[in-house]
Amino acid sequence: MEIDVFTLFPGAFAWFEAQRHVANALSLGHALAYVNYRDHTPLGAGQVDDAPFGGGAGMVLRVDVVEAALRARYRVDPVELRGRRRVLALTPGGRLLDDALVDELAREPALTLLCGRYEGFDQRILDHLTSGEVSIGRYVLAGGELAAMVVCDAVLRKLPGALGDERSALEESFSEALDGAPEYPHYTRPAQYRGWPVPEVLLSGHHARIREWRLEQARARTPPGPLP
Ligand code: ADE
Repeated sequence: MEIDVFTLFPGAFAWFEAQRHVANALSLGHALAYVNYRDHTPLGAGQVDDAPFGGGAGMVLRVDVVEAALRARYRVDPVELRGRRRVLALTPGGRLLDDALVDELAREPALTLLCGRYEGFDQRILDHLTSGEVSIGRYVLAGGELAAMVVCDAVLRKLPGALGDERSALEESFSEALDGAPEYPHYTRPAQYRGWPVPEVLLSGHHARIREWRLEQARARTPPGPLP
């Protein structure tokens, strides 16, 4: 998989790239590349944004700047590119990222993620230069970089070889193996701690019973409600 992230802050991804599963994925031949809008702007003084028509607070990422960056990277008209490759803008109002969408994205050979800043994107970027919008939650971040990292993190860990143990990604919260339920609880040593017991069945060594117990637990778990 080849992921290109368009951003004004490529340096923000240094920590992310050092994460074990990301480094594993990269060493297996998957690629993460960054394109800085500012390096391709046709405007003077590195300008990438402008005041919104109609007035209002903040600045809007310009359509000509995003088009220039996409053209520089792919050497084709971005309007055609989006038919061939998934070009996704990170926006608070986009399709909510969930396990099904992560699976869908992990099956793509290539992804392009566009990070917005300031007040967001000129609407024509979303209407004509992208194939969709993705949101990591219904709240507003100062920019799309953290959202892009969330998408890359969730997608890359699904790729074979990215995790130390392949089973981790098969049977985890919201996976098909658990019928979309949150994952069952885990316990580790010490078996005795302040009188808080580890369920007996997990210490039994009886694999079939453990499996049955785990599936029951997963089914019984409802997604968490509001915080107390
Ligand atoms: N950009 C700003 N807020 C965002 C969010 N919640 N999800 C994705 N991209 C964003």
